[in-house]
Amino acid sequence: MAKAEKFLLAGVMGWPVMHSRSPLMHNYWLKQQGLAGTYVPLAIEPKDLAEALRALRPLGFAGCNLTIPHKLEAMKIVDRVDDVATKIGAISCVVVQPDGSLFGTNNDWLGFIGNLKQQVPDWRADAGPIAVIGAGGGARAVCYGLMQEGAKEIRLVNRTRDKAERIAEEFGGPIKVLPWEQRHDALDGVGTVVNTTSQGMVGLPALDLQLDMLPRSALATDIIYTPLESPFLAAARERGNRTVNGLGMLLHQGKPAWRLWFGVEPEVTPELREMMERSILADL
Ligand code: ATR
Repeated sequence: MAKAEKFLLAGVMGWPVMHSRSPLMHNYWLKQQGLAGTYVPLAIEPKDLAEALRALRPLGFAGCNLTIPHKLEAMKIVDRVDDVATKIGAISCVVVQPDGSLFGTNNDWLGFIGNLKQQVPDWRADAGPIAVIGAGGGARAVCYGLMQEGAKEIRLVNRTRDKAERIAEEFGGPIKVLPWEQRHDALDGVGTVVNTTSQGMVGLPALDLQLDMLPRSALATDIIYTPLESPFLAAARERGNRTVNGLGMLLHQGKPAWRLWFGVEPEVTPELREMMERSILADL
């Protein structure tokens, strides 16, 4: 490699952070692009978040991604956030601007949509009603993405109804809130069903969702990627539905981050996906 003009730096701030898979992915891309640089896990306690973000510029970082629990708090610290982040209510990515100021945006929705489009090229958000289970931060990004893609009807169900109502009020348009008790029936006639709850993650109980009403033609997708196949996805696959797991959402949100930090957009290749899958399987 020729002597680089600059050593590129980026990372992910979280607490805890050592479980994060994103360094593996970003360092793969740095190597693939022949760039000198590194992407590091940054274990930042919540009380230190403001100082850590302010240190990005003097340390020469292009920016960072944010994970639990920093996505909301960071919004108040950065100098500017865009409309997307304001609407979703969280930032997933910070960019150090040429003038040294900090800009925050949210790439999670791009990750969700980019993944579906890569995995199921004929998928259409307007092909039928969509059921979204859950109303946390993940659901907000998913609903935003689905609306950008022209979804005509989103049936939103959450254990705590108020949170779903808040999303419907803020986002308007095609979102209809249904009570938690009706989640099984909410699958009737849908083209897509998305789990955005934490149910089904390693160590947690499976999502309590009966799939009898789900059309066989529907796509079932989850934002969970540990395990790679949640019990919900396994049940959908076993009855003949197409399924997409949440790993690609993580992979695809990295692309716009790279464009903002380094001015290039790397590809989500089968090799990258397999490397990430192997890493997850090795830890389970
Ligand atoms: P994230 O930002 O990852 O979406 P979150 O904001 O904590 O995480 O949201 C978690 C989601 O999982 C919420 O929709 C939550 O439902 P509540 O709003 O009722 O808390 C959902 N969830 C968590 N545990 C659940 C359970 N046991 N049954 C059903 N839904 C659950």
